[in-house]
Amino acid sequence: MASIDAPRIRRQPVSVTRKMAASLPGLRDLARSKGLKIHHLGAGYPHPEVTDPRGFLAHQAAYFAHLEAAEGLNDPDQVPEHLRESFSYTDTLGPVTTREVFARVYGRDWGVDIDPGRLIPTVGATGGISLMCSLFERPGTPVAYITDAPTYAGFLARAGLCQHARIFSVEMDGEGPIPDRLRAQIRAAREAGCDVPFYYTVPDGHNPAGFSFSQARREAVVAVAREEGVLIVEDAPYLYINYADAADRPRPFLSIAPEQTVHLFTGSKIGFPGPRVGFLYSDATVTIADGSEVSFKELALTEASGDILFQNPGALRGFEALLHDESFRERDSLWPVAETKLGVYRENRRILLDGLQAGLGDRPDAFHWTEPDAGFFSVFTFRTPGIRTDDEFCNGLVADHGVVAIPMYDFYPRDARARDPNAGLDQLRLSFCFTESTGEQRRRDLTEAVAAFCRAARAAAGV
Ligand SMILES: Cc1ncc(COP(=O)(O)O)c(C=O)c1O
Repeated sequence: MASIDAPRIRRQPVSVTRKMAASLPGLRDLARSKGLKIHHLGAGYPHPEVTDPRGFLAHQAAYFAHLEAAEGLNDPDQVPEHLRESFSYTDTLGPVTTREVFARVYGRDWGVDIDPGRLIPTVGATGGISLMCSLFERPGTPVAYITDAPTYAGFLARAGLCQHARIFSVEMDGEGPIPDRLRAQIRAAREAGCDVPFYYTVPDGHNPAGFSFSQARREAVVAVAREEGVLIVEDAPYLYINYADAADRPRPFLSIAPEQTVHLFTGSKIGFPGPRVGFLYSDATVTIADGSEVSFKELALTEASGDILFQNPGALRGFEALLHDESFRERDSLWPVAETKLGVYRENRRILLDGLQAGLGDRPDAFHWTEPDAGFFSVFTFRTPGIRTDDEFCNGLVADHGVVAIPMYDFYPRDARARDPNAGLDQLRLSFCFTESTGEQRRRDLTEAVAAFCRAARAAAGV
């Protein structure tokens, strides 16, 4: 076998979620051999009950038939426009109609004037993260990304691919990142010789921190970003997976400061993850090497065209169908689409929070959990000393109680763990988005899962 030398390539660490996924089959067998049922509080996937694609496919087909009828084609040999477009090369911005409709609908929902010419299609939010990183890694000089401690595992994985990128992380309190720490970390990164292009965060339904930032904190973050001259990369998969009353919902960074924000929209949670639809949007401008000021969109578009070049126009036109109602009228809002998903997530969230309260609410001295206003996760904290929620602990949860939960420590960037070697080692991420079952059985399964978790937590804490 031939071999080449790649002396500068380093092996990437395996994330804890991957490790859990790899060890799960063996642990599951072990649990089953003891007669234990497996309880899912680990997986962060959309629920099967709200991701059956058949209704969507029927609606998409009807929408396409409607477009064809509107074209009024008489010649059977003539290819309808949406078909021609879906199966051709498109430009990097993808179909214009999809962007125009999305700009209007999303803009209405969030009170923003969105320019469809600045909507850059991405391969999900993951593609948006990757685009942001590759753009600022291109010069090959030291670059620092500011993010939360803890932060999204996918961001850590992408940032970790670049050997000249470092993460400077910011501790959070119950409202969001601590503004003074944010400022201090930006400055520390610059003092270390790094460019600091952006602060990456998930302000709504933070994955994995299990809460949403307050409005006041968002404004404080914008003030720091403006003063220090960094962009805010707002990863927004859970914007619509929202449990707060409309009047209480904080505004996304996109709506507070579009000129300071790069907003990452994804269709994965409001629609379906498989088609990998996403958009990157920003009104920001950037001063570049030659001293000129260019629109961020131009930089990102050049980067995207050198990267994936052609988007998937069929997937984007399919997403366009979702932006229209059953009568093919453009939707006023995406909230009715969200509502088709929220019924299940709202109920699951209630089951988790009520179950934790019933099982552990008598010992606030020993246990704490976040009450998420959005997203899929609650962070559970052991307040009793002596517990280390490491891999061994989580493997034991499966093997001894059948409970799958994710340890939090791996979501803390390396610098946060250097500051506090115990960061996250008293915490677990509990997800309420996924069960294998649907309907009444889903409710029963999740109720049992939470009860099993509470028993396991009491046993671990010795209370
Ligand atoms: C914070 C965050 N960003 C990005 C993603 C991935 O999004 P996409 O499927 O659009 O790539 C997820 C999904 O779990 C997420 O929680």
